[in-house]
Amino acid sequence: MDIWRIRGGRKLDGVCFVQGSKNASLPILAASLLSGGETQLHNVPQLRDIDAALRILRHLGCTAEQRENEVYISAGGLTRSAIPRRLMLEMRSSVIFMGALLARCGEARLCPPGGCQLGRRPIDLHLGALRQLGAEIDDSGEEIVCTAKALRGAEIRLPFPSVGATENTMLAATAAEGETVIRGAAREPEIAALQDYLRAIGCEVHGAGTDTVVIRGGRGTQSAEHRIIADRIAASTMACAAAACGGSVELRGVDPAHFSTVLYFLKQAGCDIISENRSVWLRSAGKLHAVGEIVTRPYPGFPTDAQPVLMAALLKADGRSLITETIFENRFRQVPELRRLGADIGLAGQSAEIWGVDSLHGTVLNATDLRGGAAMIVAGLTAEGQTVVYDEGHVRRGYEQFDVRLRALGADIYLDN
Ligand code: EPU
Repeated sequence: MDIWRIRGGRKLDGVCFVQGSKNASLPILAASLLSGGETQLHNVPQLRDIDAALRILRHLGCTAEQRENEVYISAGGLTRSAIPRRLMLEMRSSVIFMGALLARCGEARLCPPGGCQLGRRPIDLHLGALRQLGAEIDDSGEEIVCTAKALRGAEIRLPFPSVGATENTMLAATAAEGETVIRGAAREPEIAALQDYLRAIGCEVHGAGTDTVVIRGGRGTQSAEHRIIADRIAASTMACAAAACGGSVELRGVDPAHFSTVLYFLKQAGCDIISENRSVWLRSAGKLHAVGEIVTRPYPGFPTDAQPVLMAALLKADGRSLITETIFENRFRQVPELRRLGADIGLAGQSAEIWGVDSLHGTVLNATDLRGGAAMIVAGLTAEGQTVVYDEGHVRRGYEQFDVRLRALGADIYLDN
């Protein structure tokens, strides 16, 4: 059990080096088994989900190790195409191994993935797209068996721009004969990052970042070295923490365009923000104003992953803010816990109405999920007295040295585990 102990009320000041992106690293780790060669990755965060992906690679017969933020994979020795249930349940991204294994071995055996409980998280779009590439899929609900004698390129239209389904389809399509066109693809920066890696191993892919991604199959086999992009959600979280606590923070190494919608609302809330090529300066007086309606949307819209932490930043803002969640059914799990700090939040369907209060009071909370847990920590930083967050490891699935980074900015936060 991780126990986060926070004493609120300190301003945040200084430079924060933003961690590498979890959600860019995970599909690239799955993609590393496409080539029989070696992959060296830089800037990979040290996180529980990354460990889980490395354990899957090792189970499959690859060599995979992490030293600080460097990861080395050698996929030449791949011997298996089945992932045991205990490894699948550790995170959502284990499902991306399906497309990669199908491409490399012509078969994949796994079970539905784990990950944060954010409502129903079906994988029908993943399976539908792989079937269109010629995979035969037997899905008993308990076990999913995919086989393909030969994958063939196809024109695939995703009815919703699912990040995971886009990634899985891109990976499987690298081994398909001919061209695959994914229409309605997700446009997240992590998709463009996956394209960059696939190109580095020799695949022909273009269009990532737009809603049409084109993959010409049958080419990628070489070794590659690749640098993981900075984590836009970790950057958003630090920005929200600095906005709520007050102070002046420079977020270094991150592309401001990747979280411009979050910065837009923080500016509306009264922060001064200067964005440069690879860094963002944020200055806040600590007293924020409520903002207009925030609606979560697929990229380039406002990211669902930043919704709980922005909510936490707005708990003491002047006036009423409204957040509508459209991506996940159940992404307000932080709300009952935040109310225990004294927050005034009304829930109606998929919307949360936040009325700013004068003060929050530290208490004992339970982390419900990764971003919800981070929101409780951000709120704790602005509460009077001590907040203790009990956490079964959710926050460390996605935040690298969260306590150390916050302490370096002046926060009073300690992690016991
Ligand atoms: N969906 C379906 N069918 C599918 C796939 C998705 O109905 O086959 C629905 C989901 O149920 C959900 C919505 O589509 O309601 C969005 O799902 P998507 O597939 O886009 O998300 P994901 O690939 O499961 C990734 C991130 C999430 C992030 C979402 C949305 C990774 C490892 N995870 O999940 O990150 O919230 O995209 O941007 O990349 C996190 O880091 O905390 C996290 C949850």
